[in-house]
Order: sequence, then C-alpha cells, then structure tokens
Amino acid sequence: MNYADYLKLDQLLSIQQPESDRLGRPARDELLFIIVHQAYELWFKQILNELDVADQAFTEDHVDDADIGKVVHALDRIAVVLRVLVNQIDILETMTPLDFLEFRDLLIPASGFQSAQFRQIEVRLGLMPEARISFNGQSYKSKLRAIDQRLLSKLESQSSLADRVETWLLRTPFVVWKDWDFEDAYSRAVATMFANERHMISENPELDQEQHDRQLRNVEQSEDAFRSILQPVDGTVAAPGWRFRPQALLAALFINLYRDEPALQLPYRLLTALMDIDELLSTWRHRHALMVQRMIGRKIGTGGSSGHDYLKNSAEKHRMFGDLFALATFLIPRSALPPLPPHVQRAMRYQYTDTAS
Ligand code: HEM
Repeated sequence: MNYADYLKLDQLLSIQQPESDRLGRPARDELLFIIVHQAYELWFKQILNELDVADQAFTEDHVDDADIGKVVHALDRIAVVLRVLVNQIDILETMTPLDFLEFRDLLIPASGFQSAQFRQIEVRLGLMPEARISFNGQSYKSKLRAIDQRLLSKLESQSSLADRVETWLLRTPFVVWKDWDFEDAYSRAVATMFANERHMISENPELDQEQHDRQLRNVEQSEDAFRSILQPVDGTVAAPGWRFRPQALLAALFINLYRDEPALQLPYRLLTALMDIDELLSTWRHRHALMVQRMIGRKIGTGGSSGHDYLKNSAEKHRMFGDLFALATFLIPRSALPPLPPHVQRAMRYQYTDTAS
C-alpha cells in the first residue's frame, strides 16, 4: 500500500476534464469550477454517510438511549462540514463573471440543480415535496437522470429524519410523569405571565388610551400564538403553520425549557444540532444565491430557472426544522418556569448525584 494507491489518486486526478479543453477553446478557470464542484460532491457523500447513523438509530418505533450520543456526534459533524461548504464559496468567488463567461455556455443545460446527492440530503433531512418551489411548473426530479429520479422517489416514500425525530419526540418521557403534567403546569405559568403583562399595561400611567389598547392587543395576539400549540383543535394533526404535531412540539419545548436536567441534555443537543444544520444549509443557499447574482446578474440559470430569484426563494422556503426555530416564541424566562416536582427531578438526574430527595 502506498499513498497514491490507497487514495486512487491516478483516477481521482484524472477526472477533472474541462469541456473548454476538449473543444480547443481553453478557459483557465474551468478547472477551478470543476474541482470546487467535485469537492462539494465528496462532502455531500460524507453528509449522507453521517445521516445513515441517524437513520439506523432513529427507527420508527424505537431509539436506544445509548445511540443518541452517536447521532448527536454525527449531526454535529454534518454541521462542521456544512460550515466548510459555506466558506468554500469564497474560493469560487475568486473567479470573475467575465472568466465564467468563457465557458458558461458549454455547461447548458447542466446545473447544480441536478445534484442528486444534494437532493438526497434535502429529502432525507425532511424537505417535503409539497414545500418545494416549483421549477417552471415541473417537479425538481424531472431535470434529473432516471436512475436518480427513482432513488429520490424511493427516499420520498420513506420517513425522513424530521419524521423520525417527530415520532421520537412524541414518545418523550417526563412530559407526563405520574401526577406531573407539563402541559398543565406550563399553561398555568403562561396564563400568569400574560396576567402580569396585562396588569403592568393597565397600571402604567405613562400610556395614553391608544397605546394602552395597542399593547393589550399585542398581548392578545401573543396569547393566540400560544394557543396554537396549547389548545390544538385536533392533537393528532399539526396546527396550521406547523409541521410537527402539538404533542411533539410540547415535548421539544419541554426539552428546551428543562435542558439543564441531565436526562434532557442529549435530547437538547440533538434538537440544537438539527437547527444548526437547517441554519447552515440555509446560509449556504443564501451565499450561493448571492454568488450567482454576482456571477450572472439577472440571466437565467444554465438549468433554465429564473436564476437568482429562484435561488433566493428556495433559500427562504426550503427549510426542514422551522418548527424548532418557531418554538423560541414559547420560551418563558427561567424565573417563570414551573418547578419540577422532586419525583420528576429525581427521575431525570443521575442517581449518584441525586440531591432532590
Ligand atoms: C459560478 C458558480 C455557480 C453558478 C453561476 C451557479 C448557478 C446556479 C443557478 C442559476 C441555479 C438555479 C438552477 C438553474 O437554473 O441552473 C443553481 C442551482 C444549484 N446550484 Fe449552483 N451555481 C454555481 C456554483 C455551484 C456550486 C459550487 C455548487 C455546489 C455543489 C452548486 C450547487 C447548486 C445546487 C445544489 C443547486 C440547486 C439549489 C436549489 O434548488 O435550491 N452551484 N446554481
């Protein structure tokens, strides 16, 4: 074994083949363009490999506690890779729009839009087909090779990481534990918080009638928002604007609010890692959209989309874990948090550091 054989370097370094060379009109930066894209695809491959860890641990009806740490580690690694992928745009941006024009027309109709691995990442994380922006009225898959279309359709029919996390959340213990019911305790704390806010507004001599009414209306609106997870019309389906069912949202809220408890540390880190991934993927989309605007202005993409406009929209809309971000609306200050009864606290702490009793 030597370095070159192990890494199959002869093959690896022979697969950067600029179209501009083949056609005898060399464009110096096409090599950079190819290397950057190939490097992306290698990292996509690694991300998919890390997602396997999560898929194996998060089956539909069971998650072994001992596996959660491994999943958090894999998701954290995905986030680190995504950070590198965001920064990698800097390298491509050293190519000027004029240099890109030297070979751009040779790419048509190919486009990063056809990256099957990127699509797999989206689908496996949980981007839903109905949430996608339509691409000239067609499915995004129509632009892909038949073999990739088949794989993506299969993945779409399976449960995504977001689906699996939702069913895991629905099984969260401690949300209801003997006579403790988080939803009740939290609802009461929220009601007290709003009553205090109302009281403060009514007692504030600085406010004129108009300001007073407006502030009270704001409180009412906030209360309405809280009702969307506290009083669902039907607890088995997501309330409008939400992806997860209310009980899963409550569990995620519980994990966020009581994350200092040892038993909730890893679940909290898992939810945080999912948000990191969602945010970094969105950051990549925004950076890519800006880079595209700089490179091609208002031209349409080589794949036929509206170009920058399409990418700006997809950066806004193609989110997987938006619910976890929206939950921040429902956090209440630690001082207003209902204290956990001793028996719940005891159940959530390591026995050898148990002080609750
Ligand atoms: C000069 C550099 C680049 C330009 C001008 C460019 C341009 C575009 C455009 C215009 C689109 C929209 C589809 C279309 O009409 O073609 C697109 C989509 C896409 N590109 Fe790029 N791109 C560049 C570099 C990259 C790189 C380095 C990657 C890394 C893999 C990449 C990955 C993608 C992906 C994944 C999509 C689909 C995004 C979505 O549907 O939300 N692009 N690109």
